[in-house]
Amino acid sequence: MEDLLRVDGISKTYPKKKEKVKALEDVSFQVREGELVGLLGPNGAGKTTMVKIICGLVAPDKGKVMVSGFNPWEKRSKALENLSAVLEGNRNIYWPLTVRENLDFFAALKGEKPKMVRGRVDELISLLNLEDKVNVTARSLSRGMQQKLALAVALVVDVPVLILDEPTLGLDVESALEIRGMLQNVVREENKTVLLTTHDMRLVKAVCPRVIIINEGKIVTDDRVDNLLRLFEVKSYRLHLGSPLTPEQELEVKGIENTFFSNGEGNGVCIDVQLEDMENLYLILDILRKNNSAIESIERKEIDLEEVFLEIVGRRGANGKSGSFGSSV
Ligand SMILES: Nc1ncnc2c1ncn2[C@@H]1O[C@H](COP(=O)(O)OP(=O)(O)OP(=O)(O)O)[C@@H](O)[C@H]1O
Ligand SMILES: [Mg+2]
Repeated sequence: MEDLLRVDGISKTYPKKKEKVKALEDVSFQVREGELVGLLGPNGAGKTTMVKIICGLVAPDKGKVMVSGFNPWEKRSKALENLSAVLEGNRNIYWPLTVRENLDFFAALKGEKPKMVRGRVDELISLLNLEDKVNVTARSLSRGMQQKLALAVALVVDVPVLILDEPTLGLDVESALEIRGMLQNVVREENKTVLLTTHDMRLVKAVCPRVIIINEGKIVTDDRVDNLLRLFEVKSYRLHLGSPLTPEQELEVKGIENTFFSNGEGNGVCIDVQLEDMENLYLILDILRKNNSAIESIERKEIDLEEVFLEIVGRRGANGKSGSFGSSV
């Protein structure tokens, strides 16, 4: 299948007083027709800069981008005809117009008559639960509703490439789920090529089979999510104990490699053990046996995408626990 989005050797540095900020360095990737790819990375990694370069809003210092075969810096209108985007700050909606007028207006800008898009407009309004707001101006909508309208505007005309910069940022759980459902729909039924930046790992898991992770302006990973989960999977078990350990036991447990200790519910404690070496589990059981400490349950811990992400961008805490990144839903 054709690569509808090609990014070749893009570098971008922003001037900043005396120093310069390197936002992207030699970034290359391709997205095939009908593929939905997540572009992930910590704050300041360069995601929005990449999105703006693809949309022809920021000029790269080096490299080039092709959207459906057109370079937005050479064939601007051709490239933009093939692309819809939702950028930070909902810049693609028009404040004085109502929800319905916005949808009609942006469809008209792309050459569609209101009558022709009526069905599509009604469908988008209903999918995003905006029925009560059709006659409300964009200015008077809540931020979350503006975000949903921005997505609807991007989807109202049928263009092959969709670029979304943090579409669920700041949305409540229900609205984020609506957007997630909508993206699943877009992929399943409309064969769109989508590049999506987000910090919402549940959204990534639900809709992106492949992710590109950038850190400090460089690609550090470009792989399928299931490969990444497999790659980082370590067999890890969590033991729940109903009562605390003695100080001696606690010290001994903490001395075992790849073992993490935390307080559980009430008086209880949890011990996480990674079974790279079965011997560790036997050592723990020996320590527990000394005081007849009762094990309430043992569960297998699954690695999640958030942990994989933190591992890749080197943000994992020293105690092996992940930080608070991601999962805004
Ligand atoms: N207009 C600008 N002028 C100067 N520096 C900028 C400008 N836009 C972005 N930067 C810098 O470029 C780097 C990348 O920023 P960018 O907004 O692309 O990151 P991001 O990955 O989208 O981050 P976030 O997750 O916070 O949205 C940062 O160091 C940022 O401070
Ligand atoms: Mg950004």
